[in-house]
Amino acid sequence: MIVLGIETSCDETGLAVYDTRRGLSAHALYSQADIHTDFGGVVPELASRDHVRRIIPLAGEVLAEAGLAVPDLDAVAYTAGPGLVGALLTGAAVGQGLAWALDCPALGVHHMEAHLLAPMLEPRPPVMPFVALLVSGGHTQLVAVERPGVYRLLGETVDDAAGEAFDKTAQLLGLGYPGGPAIAAAAAQGRPGRYAFPRPMTRRPGLDFSFSGLKTAARQALAEQGGDWQTRADIACSFEQAVVETLVIKAQRALARVEQGRLVVAGGVGANACLRAALRELPGVELHFPRLEFCTDNGAMIAYTGAMRLAAGAATERAVRAYPRWPLTELAPFELTAPSERVQ
Ligand code: KG4
Ligand code: ZN
Repeated sequence: MIVLGIETSCDETGLAVYDTRRGLSAHALYSQADIHTDFGGVVPELASRDHVRRIIPLAGEVLAEAGLAVPDLDAVAYTAGPGLVGALLTGAAVGQGLAWALDCPALGVHHMEAHLLAPMLEPRPPVMPFVALLVSGGHTQLVAVERPGVYRLLGETVDDAAGEAFDKTAQLLGLGYPGGPAIAAAAAQGRPGRYAFPRPMTRRPGLDFSFSGLKTAARQALAEQGGDWQTRADIACSFEQAVVETLVIKAQRALARVEQGRLVVAGGVGANACLRAALRELPGVELHFPRLEFCTDNGAMIAYTGAMRLAAGAATERAVRAYPRWPLTELAPFELTAPSERVQ
């Protein structure tokens, strides 16, 4: 089955082709970061309008790269939520329109399930069950993944998501958008340990997160110390250290809670080099990441997730619907196509 995947939940237009027999055939991404950088965050209406401009040319690009024509597609998968409603609707409308024209099925995919399954695209995919640390711009969650579609929420943020904290703190420090890579770059020039920022909610039991206090701590440090470059780099460094250590403590606690040693890290903050390095230090943990470009939003994870669910017989509908809020725990279980059934 050859599936076109469309990701438009936020500020990245991602297109990809996944073939259940051959694996990932092609993928392409257009990042809108330049459009939103002056605003310090994503402007939803600008995001929707730009997706409209990008989807069709990118679809043409991935089909050409895969050596396919539009009629070769067997199905279309698009992100149906969670995300920005206008942005989601652009992908849903194009996906459903294309499927209607081709008289083939179209499936709305859950964006966070797709993040969670992104490491399955790697040469040594994780075996379920595992614990997933999902850290993106909109979500910070620890999830017990029992089998495909069966996800138990162990903990989540009570305020800002980890990526959101990076973005807001970067804006505060005048480092631009998206904040994650900007903070990481500034932190590399910073002196570690200059500020004793908190590790929120790590002293009491539980697996929830809170990141809004860290942003406030960074704001206070900036107000007290002034805004020269070295101070801002030092703040970025201590901030990154605090987020990373907090995530590592909670991930380790989640593994202990479910008596598991297998950890999957996915979502944009999973691209953070310090986080990756710190998690690699954990003893007895089998660690899985998607490749860097599949940590942040992309079409490949949508094409893959859609293809797996469609191959397992997921019900589809001919309607343009988007779900800005959509709990991961509401999904239906399904069977993954075994890797042996694919031609590698
Ligand atoms: O998964 P993603 O691309 O989009 C959402 O689903 O939200 O995640 C985007 C988030 C942004 O907040 C961005 O600042 C953060 O991921 N991010 C990073 C890094 N790269 C992206 N955070 C820390 N370090 C990075 N290297
Ligand atoms: Zn995402």
